[in-house]
Parts: sequence; structure tokens; C-alpha cells
Amino acid sequence: MSEEERLRTELYGKITELYQKRGKARFEPGKTLIRYCSPIFDDQEVNAAVESLLDGWLGVGKAAAKFEEEFCKYVGTTKLVLTNSGSSANLLAVSAAANHNGFKISKGDEAITPAMTFPSVINPLIQNGIKPVLVDSEIGKYAISTTEMEKALSERTKMVMLPHMMGNPCDMDFITEFCEENNLLLVEDSCDALGAEYRGKKTGTFGELGTFSFYASHHMSMGEGGAVATDDEEMEPIVRSFRDWGRIGAGQYMYNHIGYNLKPIDLQAAMGLIQLKRLGWFVKKRRENFKTLYEGFKAMERYFMLPQATKKSEPSWFGFPLTIRDDAGFKRDELSDFLWKANIENRPLLAGNIVDQPAYRKADMKVIGNLKNSEKVMHDGFFIGLYPGIDEEIIKYVVSKFKEFLAKQ
Ligand SMILES: Cc1ncc(COP(=O)(O)O)c(C=O)c1O
Repeated sequence: MSEEERLRTELYGKITELYQKRGKARFEPGKTLIRYCSPIFDDQEVNAAVESLLDGWLGVGKAAAKFEEEFCKYVGTTKLVLTNSGSSANLLAVSAAANHNGFKISKGDEAITPAMTFPSVINPLIQNGIKPVLVDSEIGKYAISTTEMEKALSERTKMVMLPHMMGNPCDMDFITEFCEENNLLLVEDSCDALGAEYRGKKTGTFGELGTFSFYASHHMSMGEGGAVATDDEEMEPIVRSFRDWGRIGAGQYMYNHIGYNLKPIDLQAAMGLIQLKRLGWFVKKRRENFKTLYEGFKAMERYFMLPQATKKSEPSWFGFPLTIRDDAGFKRDELSDFLWKANIENRPLLAGNIVDQPAYRKADMKVIGNLKNSEKVMHDGFFIGLYPGIDEEIIKYVVSKFKEFLAKQ
């Protein structure tokens, strides 16, 4: 063993020892902050990151290539481009779609997308000169309303930009047929829904392009990170080119797109490879926590619209979403303050109705119908955590605190 190998082994061993000594933090009701999510990792990820640093090449390298291969196997796609965030993945997917000769998308063409969304779902449309056509979603499922999609069709519709919000799949039977019949390109944002399935097929693999996020609060994490999946042989090099300054292939100073630099570093992929091994458990635990929370909230249906899985789907819940009923007799802020005081983190449902967000007031967008559900969720929707760091003891405490609040109404 060389001196370098000996020191490395010692170092990795020390990191493992540190994590063993730390152990698991004890839950103290009312004192421990119950996060909506937190990355779960240990000495294995840290050692992989340290090893990647010690190897000396920080840029995209062998771990990234390996991650792309392994993640393809997990989701069931043939090609993957790793990037530095889910938002970057959306930007790359839309940029590639708009520049793929097969789809003939030009400035002013339209993309159907829900108004109840996250900003970086629709930002890349605006940034590429594609007009977002905003439709309503269903409360409980938080999935795009398929009847509203039909009303949104026009001669200029070229694309559907489809987030599986909160980890619950959209109605993919309807949407894939809708896209086929109307010759629309489908970009599926699976950033909230890693591991979710519809008819046994993973979300993010139904459309021409699928995107994923590996941000700290997501199903698996690299700190920041994302990916674009596709089965289209021509699409993958376009995505990669936009990611890598617009260049053609690796190592050449030839550019065929006006691109970006949205590459991750290899250390992120090294951590991601370990996280991928844990992903099956992460998803399973989220589903179990969803079930336990649901059981606890069933008695509170008079006050809340409870989350509801789309038919034929197995969601991979991002959080536990709730919408306060009109006649509940309390305001979201009152409940939210009470929960924060009990150290239970709670958040609005992402951007709510994007039309109401200041940045979009002057944006060139089209609105279909009155968006009443998106509006309702903007004011009365919120979610709490169900990530794998949450166990039955914590759920019991959370449910008891909700009951305590409701008893005072
Ligand atoms: C639906 C959706 N798409 C995209 C993103 C962006 O992902 P990232 O934070 O990795 O940029 C998010 C963020 O949570 C999201 O909820």
C-alpha cells in the first residue's frame, strides 16, 4: 500500500467513525424542528465526495458518466444528461425542444401548462419565446385539469410542459393521447416526483423529454443537481450541447447552439451514485409516511381537502399537501403560525397561482378560464413534510398538534 493509499484509508475511516459517533438525533416534541424535507446521507456520501476531490479533476468526469448510466436504468430511459439543477434541466429541455428540427417550434408558438406551478417550469418557455397557456388544476391531486387542457388548444399549440406537482402523476393516459392526436411535444417535469409511477412506468419517461431535480430538499440529493432524460437519439446531443456552452461533442471548439454552462461538478455525481442506492428506500418510506399521515388526517376532512392519488398511479409524494376548506372557520396564517410555534415547518404550495406572482404580471401568457382552483390553493393550500427522516412518533405529534389547533376553533 502506498503512503497515499494508507492516508486515504485512514481518512475515510475517521469520517466513518465521526458519523458513527454522531448517531441519530433524538426527537424532542416541540423542540426538534420538523422539517418539510432534509437530505439524508452519511459517511458513504461524504467519503465519495472526498475521494472525488482527492482524485483532482473537479469538472464533469467519470462519476457523472456512471451516474447517467445508472439513473437511466432506474427510471427506464436510454439517455440522460446530468446538470446542476432541476431548473437548469427544464431550461435545457425546452431549449433543446425549441431547437430540434423535428418539432418546428417557432417564436410565439404556445405551450399548455398549469397555472399552479413552480416558476422554473414556465420560465424556460418565456425565455425561449414560447407562450405559456395557463390552465387550472384539480385540488387534492394538484395535477393539471385534462378538461381545461382541451379548451387551451389553438393552432399555435406545439408543446405541453407538464409538472407532476407534489409527486402525484398527471393523467398520463389522457395526456399522451392528447399529445399524439394534436402532434404536441411533451416535456415532463418530474422534479417533485422522482420514483412516481403511472401504470407501472416512471414519470419523466412518457414524453420526449423528462426532467429531475436533486436539490437538497428533493427525493434524493446532490446538494444541487438535476437531469434531463430522453429516448430521442437526436435530442440528447442538443441537450448536452446547450449544457456545455453550445459546443458540438467533447473537446472541440465548435459551437452549433447559443448555449449555457449548466454543468455540475463530479463530486455531486459521486454523492448521487450513493444516493441512488438509497432511492428505493427513500421512495418507500415517503409512501409509508403518506399513508400514516393520511390515516391521521382522515378525521379532519371536515376542515381540509386531503391529498388524492391520480387513478392508475403510485405517487412518490414530495410533501403532504392540504387545502383548507372555505367553511373551515380559520385562516391559513393562523394555522401556519400555530404550527411554526410547535416547530412544524409548513409551506405554501410552491408558487400557487403563478399569474398572481409579481414577476409575471407583464409576461406574455394566455390564461384559460378563471383558474379558481389555482387561486384557492394560492390562498388556502400548504404542505407539511413526509420525507424519510420523519417517523411514526413524529407523525403522531404532528397529527396531535393539528387536532389541538382544531379543538380551539
Ligand atoms: C415542479 C418543479 N420543477 C422544478 C423545480 C426546480 O428544481 P431545482 O430546485 O433543482 O432547480 C422545482 C423545485 O422544487 C419544482 O418543484
